[in-house]
Amino acid sequence: MRKGILLAGGSGTRLHPMTLASSKQLLPVYDKPMVYYPLTVLILAGIRDIMVISTPADLPQFKRLLGDGERLGVKFTYAEQPSPDGIAQAFVIGRDWIAGEGCALVLGDNLIFGDHLAAALQNAAAREDGATVFAYQVRDPERYGVVSFGHNGRALEIVEKPSAPKSNWAVTGLYFYDAQVTELAAAIKPSHRGELEITDLNKLYLERESLQVEKLGRGCAWLDAGTPDSLLQAASFVQTIQSRQGMLVGCPEEVAFRMGFIDAAMLEMEAAKLGKTELGRVLHDLATGNHG
Ligand code: TTP
Repeated sequence: MRKGILLAGGSGTRLHPMTLASSKQLLPVYDKPMVYYPLTVLILAGIRDIMVISTPADLPQFKRLLGDGERLGVKFTYAEQPSPDGIAQAFVIGRDWIAGEGCALVLGDNLIFGDHLAAALQNAAAREDGATVFAYQVRDPERYGVVSFGHNGRALEIVEKPSAPKSNWAVTGLYFYDAQVTELAAAIKPSHRGELEITDLNKLYLERESLQVEKLGRGCAWLDAGTPDSLLQAASFVQTIQSRQGMLVGCPEEVAFRMGFIDAAMLEMEAAKLGKTELGRVLHDLATGNHG
């Protein structure tokens, strides 16, 4: 799979007033804009052709931040979502660009970090048929799409925001779909809340017995930064890992280098742009071979 969508629209009402004049996904999570974290996940999956979708008001800021992608060895295409009519609408907006291929989708406010993630992502991207989603155990499953499993470990059912969840496994905001995705997404009808639900798309794959649900275990962290508390928790998480282990979390330049999308000279140029920041120092060390 070569293509992926970074969905960064929505209204961000739970973060008002912070999101009255700025996009949620451009708010800082410790030392980087929020959107860097899901972008890094797509790059780690080996995806180089990326469509960034946001609101008409916010899209210019994303262009300013991300540019054409050349400095990361990727290609960005930009598209507007005029109103937040649901996550699955990404595949309606991206239909012509996807052009009959498979496509991944990541939500612009999701942070996923952990052990063995690269292999899991690259396996999901390599699957030619069906869909792959990731499930993570949470204390408050009623806020999410919830998946329940049968004795054989296969997914049985997915329910969007159930009042009585049958499991604690929430579906995360990272999805990999095969070439059928645009056709299936076009068939979805708006839900009672007026949105094209990503859970309805996943259910279509589940009905066709072509939905793979991968459990993310305790070695992984999944955070969505959509409320003041989760935004602060995400920032603390990134700060803790980076300052304690000296490893970067959600740094697209680093991962683009490790994936071979850019070479050491390009990484050094990116490090120089970051000036005297700690991020710039770590990237400089990586580019010059002094580090990890
Ligand atoms: P949500 O957190 O469900 O919605 P939101 O971002 O509008 O925030 P709030 O509930 O505080 O008003 O969205 C999850 C992610 O999906 C987030 O990154 C925004 C994105 N999104 C879109 O880009 N378009 C959409 O139509 C929807 C529903 C979500």
